[in-house]
Amino acid sequence: MAESDLDFYAHPTAVLDAGCRVGAGSRIWHFCHLAAGAVLGENCSLGQNVFVADGVTLGRNVKVQNNVSLYSGVVCEDDVFLGPSVVFTNVRNPRSAVPRRGEAHYQTTYLERGVSIGANATLVCGVRLARYAFVGAGSVVTHDVPAFALVYGTPARQHGWMSAHGHRLAFDEAGRAVCPETGEAYQLDSIKNTVTTMS
Ligand SMILES: CC(C)(COP(=O)(O)OP(=O)(O)OC[C@H]1O[C@@H](n2cnc3c(N)ncnc32)[C@H](O)[C@@H]1OP(=O)(O)O)[C@@H](O)C(=O)NCCC(=O)NCCS
Repeated sequence: MAESDLDFYAHPTAVLDAGCRVGAGSRIWHFCHLAAGAVLGENCSLGQNVFVADGVTLGRNVKVQNNVSLYSGVVCEDDVFLGPSVVFTNVRNPRSAVPRRGEAHYQTTYLERGVSIGANATLVCGVRLARYAFVGAGSVVTHDVPAFALVYGTPARQHGWMSAHGHRLAFDEAGRAVCPETGEAYQLDSIKNTVTTMS
């Protein structure tokens, strides 16, 4: 039985271990499993066959597509999107004959607000993806990713910048760009390789 102050939906085939916490308005679909220490914020969505391990925290409005396992050490802030079959890891040097279980062995993978991960991408543990970073489908992420950066490939390399609404940003000579959907303005610092919003 999950603890919740308000309502959420869990399909009857989902397994919610005693002690997990699920925010109001969340939806948990077929064959999901939430371990006892899993915490979901409000309005999250877990597609079919999603596993959320002990100690994993998801913020509000986190959308997880089918077949994703979130292992201990993963943190997702609000509005994170995880495409189908995204792969997380939490031990960098696993060996079957060498037990490496528990917090001391797990590395953190931290996804800041608004990050999107494309289908079937793999995140090698120990990386931090800053706000609204975007990872293309099928990539292998091995390094930290700056805010608003678009990365893809194996290993993932930076190929530009994406707005908070998911549009490529084309910067002018003054380092300014505008999201074509929202009109929000962005400023590039090409020396520091950073992008910030101008509002
Ligand atoms: C990364 C992404 C956003 C780029 O889209 P885009 O800006 O329209 O880029 P384009 O399609 O114009 O591709 C530009 C180049 O990058 C390459 N490319 C695009 N995405 C790539 C990826 N994920 N991995 C490797 N190369 C990629 C293209 O082949 C193209 O190369 P080319 O010029 O040599 O032909 C998109 O390809 C992607 O991966 N989206 C994620 C989709 C997804 O997983 N959704 C999940 C929910 S259904």
